[in-house]
Amino acid sequence: MARSFQALIPRLRLHAGLALLLYVTTHLLNHVWGIFGLEALESARRFFLGFWRHPAIFWVVPASLLVHIVLSGYKLLTITNWRRLHWNEWLQLSLSLMMPLLISSHVYVTRFATLLYGVRDTYSYVLLGQMTIAIDLYLMLVVVWLHGNLGLMSYLWHKPWFRRIKQPLLIAQIVIPLLAMVGIIVAHREVNQLKQDPAWLASVMQFTNPNNVDLVAASSNFMARFGAGYAAILLGLGGGRALVLRLRRKHYLITVEYKGIATVTIPPGTSLLEASLANGIPHAHSCGGRGRCSTCRIEIIEGAKALNSPNETEQRLLKRFGAGSDIRLACQTIPTGACVVRPLLHHHDRAQLGAPTMISHGADKQIVIMFADLRGFTTLSEGKLPYDTVFILNQYFQSMGQVIESNGGYLDKFIGDGIMALFGLEGTLEQACHNALAAAQAMAHQLDVLNQRLQDDVSEPLRMGIGIHCGHVIVGDLGYKRAKHLTAIGDAVNIAARLEEATKTLQTQLVVSRAVMQHSSLDLHDLRLSEIPIRGRSQPLEIYSIESAKSLVLVPLTLNS
Ligand code: FES
Repeated sequence: MARSFQALIPRLRLHAGLALLLYVTTHLLNHVWGIFGLEALESARRFFLGFWRHPAIFWVVPASLLVHIVLSGYKLLTITNWRRLHWNEWLQLSLSLMMPLLISSHVYVTRFATLLYGVRDTYSYVLLGQMTIAIDLYLMLVVVWLHGNLGLMSYLWHKPWFRRIKQPLLIAQIVIPLLAMVGIIVAHREVNQLKQDPAWLASVMQFTNPNNVDLVAASSNFMARFGAGYAAILLGLGGGRALVLRLRRKHYLITVEYKGIATVTIPPGTSLLEASLANGIPHAHSCGGRGRCSTCRIEIIEGAKALNSPNETEQRLLKRFGAGSDIRLACQTIPTGACVVRPLLHHHDRAQLGAPTMISHGADKQIVIMFADLRGFTTLSEGKLPYDTVFILNQYFQSMGQVIESNGGYLDKFIGDGIMALFGLEGTLEQACHNALAAAQAMAHQLDVLNQRLQDDVSEPLRMGIGIHCGHVIVGDLGYKRAKHLTAIGDAVNIAARLEEATKTLQTQLVVSRAVMQHSSLDLHDLRLSEIPIRGRSQPLEIYSIESAKSLVLVPLTLNS
């Protein structure tokens, strides 16, 4: 019950915010009519108020305002880690703190003065005031507009159709307030001319402020009290919040067990990703914990009930990934009680990667090298959100990585959208050649599965090219500090890379050197041998060019004991 209410809060806040944004948009559109003169502005106002002050709608704005303020305050009070906030959340938050001060005098003059003193808040009356009042009003609208549109953008960001409306929406977000400002300036100039006529001035005053209330003094008085009250509330809430958090952190720690890795204790409000990083537990997090990349996925082994409910962003991402109910995004998961978890993507150690632990200082070895590259991915990623690109690439790397590893390969590195893998770091060359070809075939099948899964995310199916060669290379740990890892260098590596490049010109999926084929158990009957020039080599290289790796006919290898 409590969890479902927790999940409801952001929704309620969002919908209240959207209702307010709609109100502000129509308010600004009302101002736009000022371009056509004061009369047009007033007519638009009657239409605008006819809607918003209709008895059935009248309470929507105050109610939305109340809900939005209370729930935003609640969010503010429950933020336990300010570092988790993105810059636009900081901006939104700062704007929201300014808003009560900016809107209170406007609300007083329009709503309260109307109710208390029978004031009619026409534009003629409002614009009779100093230009500074109009500027204050405008500043208020800009702050509210900016705050609302930041919220709108983060709400729409994940919608599949967002890209289609992004440009027109951006244009509207800039053009509407600009036109509204022009409308107010034009109308203000007209009022300045009209007020030279005492009869016009008297009739406006009589109509708009029949009781001749000194609204400037009344609103200043209200603002002084409101300002002091608001400051006291902020100080009280801020101080209370700091105290409560301090006490909770001191007296209440939550235990998180990383199965087979470590057990740590964390203060309440800490996400599982933060728990990992704070305790030195390797944990992938490509998007920096913003719930967009899914690389921080974690398996919940025990204690699912002690976790916050997945929010909309997390649900969407996990669904897209096809994750089971025991999988969560660590960056979005905040435990309130003990739990046992296992990160799914972390910085693997050498043993997990299938790399032999003996080769570290360098060894000359005959191995098989595979390069694989996505075709046209740069074009494919054009116009995509960065996180979508990362998401698709990670899906591709994960699928291919699993296939390579399950066929005895060692994932050397990911280079852009390319993969370099080594086979035969241990075992015979025959076994390595067989494994590399089996991996290429499995990768081709896996690509079909991936394309099926990503059909809504990519405009055309992913394609790839694979080059495989074998030869003597130097294998060893290369690099510096954390960037040091087991890799291979040598002519054979360069040739394998050239073979992968050759798949583009030969328009095939797989190019394999004759040397690999000779050491494999492959049925070569239907394959045609050809030669290609290799940059840096005087002799051409004999290769087999295979249109689809799926067509390979692999014969099970007979192992000699
Ligand atoms: S770190 Fe990207 S989704 Fe969690």
